[in-house]
Amino acid sequence: MYRGCSKIFQLSEKNLQTIISDRNKSSEEKSQTVYQVAKYLAMDLANDPRSGTHLRRVTKWVDSTINFIFHDQNAFSGLVRVTSHDYYTYTHSVNLSVFGLLFGKYLFFNPYELKCFGTGLLLHDIGKIEIPLEIINKPGKLTKEEFEIVMEHPAAGKNLLEDKNVEDGSLRIVVEHHENFDGTGYPNGIGGKDIHLFGRIARIIDVYDAMTTNRVYAAAKRPFAALKEMKDQMSNCFELELLKEFISFLGPHDPRRKRRKEDFLYVSGFNKLIE
Ligand SMILES: [Fe+2]
Ligand SMILES: [Fe+2]
Repeated sequence: MYRGCSKIFQLSEKNLQTIISDRNKSSEEKSQTVYQVAKYLAMDLANDPRSGTHLRRVTKWVDSTINFIFHDQNAFSGLVRVTSHDYYTYTHSVNLSVFGLLFGKYLFFNPYELKCFGTGLLLHDIGKIEIPLEIINKPGKLTKEEFEIVMEHPAAGKNLLEDKNVEDGSLRIVVEHHENFDGTGYPNGIGGKDIHLFGRIARIIDVYDAMTTNRVYAAAKRPFAALKEMKDQMSNCFELELLKEFISFLGPHDPRRKRRKEDFLYVSGFNKLIE
């Protein structure tokens, strides 16, 4: 299936800028194309993470996506709706980049910052390519030894990208997206503002996306439940002000999911989360 589809998406990728500027296409169609192009790009990257060509494709995709979110007011709902519910390393990376670009726009990042941020998020887990698949896909709890291997992926990612002209801000995301604000994270155990702003935001979006998608060892949580758990039980991991900004940015519901009755809880509990 991948080969047949990839031809279509190669064409979409080549014409992405034209598709985004096409007044006859809906925001939904454009969002689908933006997402699918990135998904195939992320798969290619996973197969050949050292390819300079793939890295140039990432930059081009980020440029087009920035253009889309600045020129289409429905880009937020369109893109969030198409992000995947199922966790795979490549769709997870695309979800992060999409959420990050939208959140970065909300935080008034300039185009250069957005470019570094979106690129770093798409590449953030590239080092996982060096980790055995049986550990990545293990349904149960990891042993101490297995977790130590997983903890190597930020440094492995940095090694893969180091001589590839990747901007420093993007590299900092690859290295720092598992650092906790209180200094208890990995790989370097740095904390507070020693973690680059992009790394601090990546920590939040990374956890949010992992919690709200289906993984081999856990079912997806509802957006409100995930945000509440992040705020109440994992607050040491995040910069509180940034977490509150992220909650405000998402608004009362994540449009990936159809509203359910229990989401009314979210609406009434929403203000408490950002207090
Ligand atoms: Fe990671
Ligand atoms: Fe991740």
